[in-house]
Amino acid sequence: MNRARVSGINLTMDTHNQDIFDGLAAMDDADTVRISVCGTCIDCSNAGEAGIGAGARLFEKMTEARDGHPCRDVLQIEKIRCLMACTEGCTLTIGARGKMKYLLGRLEPSDDLVEQVLDFAAMYAASPSGVTPNHEWPPLLAPHFIGRVPPCEPNDPGWEDDGADL
Ligand code: FES
Repeated sequence: MNRARVSGINLTMDTHNQDIFDGLAAMDDADTVRISVCGTCIDCSNAGEAGIGAGARLFEKMTEARDGHPCRDVLQIEKIRCLMACTEGCTLTIGARGKMKYLLGRLEPSDDLVEQVLDFAAMYAASPSGVTPNHEWPPLLAPHFIGRVPPCEPNDPGWEDDGADL
């Protein structure tokens, strides 16, 4: 096992993970991951007035961090309006054509969290179904997953939800 530094944090890179990140170099536009950040979330921590604009700040931080991320070429970030999970703000979705889509929430625009969202998005990009083993997720992210939505037409029709991966 070796360790690699990806987007400012140390990730444990076993052979499987190394293959994932190496494989990103072979991707084309069809593999682009779309990260949709709710720009209208007003509060990440129930802090009232102090939280106003938090979603917009998260979008700005995500965009800045993406520009310095090694997988930036396959990560597209957009700012959208309400994802209808306002009580769990700040929120964003991670999705791609034909893949499981994820909704994350309770996010604050901190450097570590933003970088780990991008690292997860890179793992997601390398997965044909979008499903990744939860024991390989960046460590800060687990409490932020709110939901997932299956694709209408999966890229990987052979994938079965056997409960092993999320
Ligand atoms: S305002 Fe962000 S989820 Fe509703």
